[in-house]
Amino acid sequence: MTQIHPPARLLMGPGPVDADPRVLRAMAAPLVGQFDPFMTDTMTEAMVLWRTVWDTANEQTFLVDGTSRAGIEAALVSLLEPGDRVLVPVFGRFGHLLAEIGARAGADVHTIETEWGTVFDPGQIEDAVRQVRPRLLAVVHGDTSTTMAQPLADLGRIAHEHDALLYVDATATLGGNHFHADEWGIDAATAGLQKCLGGPSGSAPVTLSPAAASAINRRKHVEAGIRTADDVAPHGVPILSNYLDLAQIMDYWGPRRLNHHTEATSMLYAARECARLLVTEGMATAVDRHAQHGAAMLAGVLGLGLEVFGDVGHKMHNVVAVRIPDGVDGDAVRGALLDDFGVEIGTSFGPLHGVVWRIGTMGFNARRDAVLTTLAALEHELRRAGFGAPPGGGVAAALAVYDKAAPMDLLASSYDTVVDEEARL
Ligand SMILES: Cc1ncc(COP(=O)(O)O)c(C=O)c1O
Repeated sequence: MTQIHPPARLLMGPGPVDADPRVLRAMAAPLVGQFDPFMTDTMTEAMVLWRTVWDTANEQTFLVDGTSRAGIEAALVSLLEPGDRVLVPVFGRFGHLLAEIGARAGADVHTIETEWGTVFDPGQIEDAVRQVRPRLLAVVHGDTSTTMAQPLADLGRIAHEHDALLYVDATATLGGNHFHADEWGIDAATAGLQKCLGGPSGSAPVTLSPAAASAINRRKHVEAGIRTADDVAPHGVPILSNYLDLAQIMDYWGPRRLNHHTEATSMLYAARECARLLVTEGMATAVDRHAQHGAAMLAGVLGLGLEVFGDVGHKMHNVVAVRIPDGVDGDAVRGALLDDFGVEIGTSFGPLHGVVWRIGTMGFNARRDAVLTTLAALEHELRRAGFGAPPGGGVAAALAVYDKAAPMDLLASSYDTVVDEEARL
């Protein structure tokens, strides 16, 4: 066997996307011991940086080792006791995932559903909360399967007025769309690095409000072998997972440094660097960058004569779902894009599999050259597949967006120069 040597790719699907090379470089840094002062300082720095990304003052802001799903499962299994009622508004595949994980945690799961390609009016969610009276309202922010982003600003108030906590899966949105954990009253939120955050999958940033942290800590059962006489007698049923037990993980990230797992050091470096790059760029600037390149991609696919799926007014900035034209073999076009251009785009799941392509503009790939290359390549493959895309129509429409939005060039170049100022943080 030879050394790993992946083909050159431009990952323009719904995530993962290409990691920022600076994140990959950070991952190549040497390992240190788990209780080396450098290690614990790096954990503390990561907590500080991620508070800015989440826009929160939450002390309990840290990482769970594992992909985004580990973060979701950690939050749900730690917040929910068997029999607790949870309400999940489902508007795509990942809402179903929250319901599934809640059910496996033994919760009494209630769902409301809206058609894929739409989001809920907050009033619909409030009605359901009034009816179900859940202990937890659990919602996906951006459901990558449909590209829709559920407005969150009212949900914290709705949950709290009915004595519920609010959990949000922000995997697909964080870093590329506005997210204000404290302002929106979010009690628990989790993400993954591989979308707008510019890293590889494998680390799940988490933030917990004081209310969520104390609900979880009430059930803290410190495991035998490290438990001391000072550990208070626990209340309630132990958290059903040991690895994803946020009560013990908080003690590992907190001043007690109580050993839990062996922190995934290279992923810690990656997560710290993802956050450092975003904080250096400025969260608002990063969101604008995703909005601008997303708008260029949207204009570009329309310029190719393609139809966009769903309620575009509620689309995430960073991914667009495009209807596969009649008579075109969607998988064959995706395969040809990969073979001929090294460009990857995605299809979707369930009812949308083979019906739409999903094209992302996120993280390191929320860039003008990535957008224009993808549109040029897609035009070529569409025409080869017999679809009459107007020659140059996609690139021209995207360029028109960039030309109209003169600040875009400034933004794009400021991203590259600002994030290169290594010593700012
Ligand atoms: C909204 C959302 N939630 C959860 C996940 C699961 O993430 P992971 O595959 O990193 O575990 C994804 C993955 O695409 C996602 O888009």
